Amino acid sequence: MRFSRTWPGVLFLLSILIFSLSLCTNQEAKEELAYWNHSDTVRYMGIETCAGCHRDIAESFQHTGMGLSYEHAHRGKSIADFENHPPVYDSVLDYFYRAYWKSDTLMVEEFRLDNQDTIHKITQSIDYIIGSGQHTQSNIFQIDNHFFQAPITWYAQKGMADLPPGYEGGENSRFSRIIGLECMSCHNAMPTEFVMGSENKFKNVPQGIDCERCHGPGSAHVAKILRGDLTDTSKYIDYSIVNPKKLSAQLRFEICQRCHLQGNAVLQPDKSFLDFRPGMILRDIMDIYLPRYENDHSFIMASHVDRFTQSKCYQSAPQTFDCTSCHNPHKSVRLTGTESFNNSCMNCHAGPEVCSEKPAKKALHENNCVGCHMPNPGAAIFHTSLSTTIIFEKITIPFRAKKKYLLD
Ligand code: HEC
Ligand code: HEC
Ligand code: HEC
Ligand code: HEC
Ligand code: HEC
Ligand code: HEC
Ligand code: HEC
Repeated sequence: MRFSRTWPGVLFLLSILIFSLSLCTNQEAKEELAYWNHSDTVRYMGIETCAGCHRDIAESFQHTGMGLSYEHAHRGKSIADFENHPPVYDSVLDYFYRAYWKSDTLMVEEFRLDNQDTIHKITQSIDYIIGSGQHTQSNIFQIDNHFFQAPITWYAQKGMADLPPGYEGGENSRFSRIIGLECMSCHNAMPTEFVMGSENKFKNVPQGIDCERCHGPGSAHVAKILRGDLTDTSKYIDYSIVNPKKLSAQLRFEICQRCHLQGNAVLQPDKSFLDFRPGMILRDIMDIYLPRYENDHSFIMASHVDRFTQSKCYQSAPQTFDCTSCHNPHKSVRLTGTESFNNSCMNCHAGPEVCSEKPAKKALHENNCVGCHMPNPGAAIFHTSLSTTIIFEKITIPFRAKKKYLLD
């Protein structure tokens, strides 16, 4: 019978599959165990310490979006031109907002008018700015170390102020939106001195994403180097610190996923948003659920991983292709030339000839692969357009909509 003949074959294939899967998991588990800085006793040192020896990298990194992600509010940090901007009006709740500098302190004011009379006014000083300003800058203040977001945001691409994303249409929570650990742990360095059990209390916060978010805490590495114990890193791994280049593609990808995959994060029992370290498997700390709605092909802002993993390229070559195939995280995307991105296509596609688009048309676009294949998906949050991460699939792109890529 057909069933009995194929059954042993299926079992055989299945056992090969399970065996190879267990090899992968063992491999990753071994890698994970090897790094000294997965131990709780290894401390975070801060970017200043790393910069002491890795000066060029630190110099270049501080101009990236990640390097500029979070800082004290000061005139040099802010890209906003609040002074020449009319107040922002929430027509649903009937409040006006304006921001201004009072000597070196950024202030946000909420007021309501009755004809010309101000019949309500609240003023709040701002402590931190979140966002490099690539897209937006939002304003954060603290009261007794409890962190909140203020109801006015600067939109860089349009050069205008408005309510923060999500505050529109009567959803304005005014001065009460809390900034908790989930948010902070994607936008800042470690250690974040979060008061466990609180919703939004931080004894202290650092000043922007730094080296140790991708390399792990560095005290053991610094101690090792200072005692003269050097590794020839061209041949061997220095296990006192994680070099993502030396991880498996999957573990390297997990580092970026920690922050570039935003969804409904559900922590594993006894884990916190502080626990993930480079070289670990993210799902051991948290699961991330991405709600999908019928006919909704939109993406939220921090969905690079989601967009990327939907591309044919990734799906056909998941063990070789990851974010670092195109991005050097030490270098700003603004300074990474188009050529560098296009070269990454050629690692797998032989050249322009693999592309069936008319040569004349390609020439017109200077064979710029990413210009045609990774176009701007449009506004992900209002007033903001993202230049894209990979979207070979699933997003309405003009030339696709007419052809075989019609969305299902
Ligand atoms: C006192 C100087 C010094 C300091 C401080 C220092 N490093 Fe290093 N680092 C080195 C040297 C030297 C090497 C190469 C030799 C070695 O790894 O033993 C190295 C290697 C590395 C590597 C490559 C490891 C590999 O296996 O390829 C990484 C990644 C790294 N450092 C990151 C950091 C980070 C992050 C910090 C801050 C927490 C830091 N370093 C602080 C001197 C330093
Ligand atoms: C899962 C990690 C994650 C969480 C949680 C998260 N963000 Fe983000 N956020 C990101 C990433 C990644 C980007 C960069 C998107 C891009 O550049 O395309 C971003 C972008 C932003 C920006 C725009 C920065 C700029 O100029 O490009 C602001 C402002 C911001 N987030 C604020 C917040 C606030 C406030 C919260 C909490 C209420 C929050 N985020 C929660 C990961 C996260
Ligand atoms: C967003 C993640 C990220 C951040 C933040 C980051 N790095 Fe890296 N770093 C990487 C990746 C990925 C590699 C491997 C690059 C490659 O494939 O060549 C790397 C490689 C390195 C290396 C090894 C260089 C080599 O040639 O092998 C050093 C040293 C290093 N980083 C230091 C730093 C320092 C110092 C900082 C902070 C100023 C920093 N990194 C911030 C992701 C990061
Ligand atoms: C600690 C969380 C975190 C980790 C880990 C992280 N990112 Fe980011 N990344 C962010 C946030 C937040 C932003 C947006 C910062 C802003 O513009 O304010 C960002 C911005 C970027 C940008 C655009 C900004 C620029 O000019 O460079 C790139 C590219 C990027 N990340 C790549 C990576 C890659 C690749 C990895 C993995 C090696 C990685 N990131 C790991 C949080 C993170
Ligand atoms: C095939 C190459 C490629 C890969 C792989 C890739 N990117 Fe990008 N990424 C780009 C290009 C091209 C841009 C646009 C650069 C520009 O605006 O000049 C970009 C831009 C970005 C930006 C800035 C977006 C903005 O809104 O301004 C972030 C953040 C980012 N990528 C993160 C990631 C992350 C995280 C991954 C892995 C999940 C990834 N990218 C994988 C090519 C790539
Ligand atoms: C790690 C290897 C790899 C890289 C890098 C890569 N691709 Fe691909 N790509 C593939 C594979 C494998 C396929 C599926 C087989 C095929 O169509 O050739 C594919 C398919 C495609 C398709 C057809 C998509 C579809 O839905 O049918 C396009 C378009 C494409 N790639 C463009 C690009 C562009 C543009 C770049 C650079 C930004 C790039 N690829 C980078 C491996 C890669
Ligand atoms: C002028 C815009 C444009 C440029 C530039 C361009 N492509 Fe394409 N590419 C297209 C179009 C249009 C298609 C066909 C899509 C379809 O059939 O629906 C395509 C198809 C493809 C495919 C799928 C195979 C096929 O022919 O159906 C691959 C792979 C591909 N391109 C890779 C590249 C690479 C690599 C580059 C850069 C060297 C590049 N493309 C440059 C527009 C462009």
